[in-house]
Amino acid sequence: MAILFSPLKLRGTEFKNRIFVSPMCQYSSQDGLATDWHFVHLGSRAVGGAALVMVEATAVSPEGRISPQDSGLWSDAHAEAFAKITRFVKEQGSVPGIQLAHAGRKASTPPPWEKGQGRLVRPEDGGWMPIAPSAIPFDAGYPGPREMTLRDIRLVAAQFGEAAGRALNAGFDLLELHFAHGYLVHEFLSPLSNRREDAYGGSFENRARLSIEIARAVRETWPDRLPLFVRLSATDWVKGGWDLESSIELSRRLKAEGVDLIDCSSGALVPHAQIPAGPGYQVPFAAAIRREAAIPTAAVGFITDPAQAETILATGQADAVFLARALLRDPYWPLHAAKALGADVPWPVQYLRAR
Ligand SMILES: Cc1cc2nc3c(=O)[nH]c(=O)nc-3n(C[C@H](O)[C@H](O)[C@H](O)COP(=O)(O)O)c2cc1C
Repeated sequence: MAILFSPLKLRGTEFKNRIFVSPMCQYSSQDGLATDWHFVHLGSRAVGGAALVMVEATAVSPEGRISPQDSGLWSDAHAEAFAKITRFVKEQGSVPGIQLAHAGRKASTPPPWEKGQGRLVRPEDGGWMPIAPSAIPFDAGYPGPREMTLRDIRLVAAQFGEAAGRALNAGFDLLELHFAHGYLVHEFLSPLSNRREDAYGGSFENRARLSIEIARAVRETWPDRLPLFVRLSATDWVKGGWDLESSIELSRRLKAEGVDLIDCSSGALVPHAQIPAGPGYQVPFAAAIRREAAIPTAAVGFITDPAQAETILATGQADAVFLARALLRDPYWPLHAAKALGADVPWPVQYLRAR
């Protein structure tokens, strides 16, 4: 039996296989509310057989959105808009999860398919002034973000906690905290974007403080029976930046706060890093964190082939794989992978005549 199709249990939640839908922004929300697009997009991936269907980076506050079209969870109406989706995903035997996020200095930008990507949306077009640990812009040409006060920092940690409560009400069975890709929490972690001189900047301890406070605030609300993931950028791919060693130490501390799995991505803190992207290039991060921090990990990035995914698991480098673009190209990737690996996986009864 392929390990890819063996179940994985974390706390009280059982995943029917090790194929997870990686969070993917759809830029299709209205005032942060999920739309029919999300129902069909996420529902299709559940029908396609992925064990975990993760909703895109979902902002804990309006100013935490990457774009005005981003998903949000800052009111009960947002939770209600997800309820139909979580119900359908569960009916297919998949686990509905959601990634909670704050975009920090990379907020208020247009969707990637619109002109001017990488530039702020102007206030008259629905944009806002981003906040960040320090007033350092992401790239030349970006206006500097506003440096956060201690009050802002406390508020963000509380907003993550409140969003966790709404996620529970919406029917989600898994939360992921987005601490990667150059968004707010990663900006605190990396010395390249955090030049603060208070309790949230300088030493590793101080730069990691917000991530720990958020994990704690979320775990207070999120029930013990349900798993909590964290996505990290394991390295900035820049000398003097956040690195694998720091990620291993942070993973140990997050584990002590009740985090169950580290989703190992990398990069996106600075625009011009040299990244050797290619098949499975981030898998060694998942392997190192799994080994050194003794915590389950998931691998992500250019995983496209069933045998490749199986090898990652069989060699003990990760406990699960997140797929993003491969699942955009083919929502039925898990059903096709089962055939390729000789695993006997049930199809939706409605589709049996096509098997
Ligand atoms: C359309 C799109 C949207 C994405 N949005 C998110 C997101 O909301 N949160 C996140 O952590 N990563 C996001 N990513 C990154 C993916 O989750 C994934 O880490 C990356 O695409 C590498 O995996 P892949 O090679 O399987 O595509 C996005 C990627 C794509 C293609």
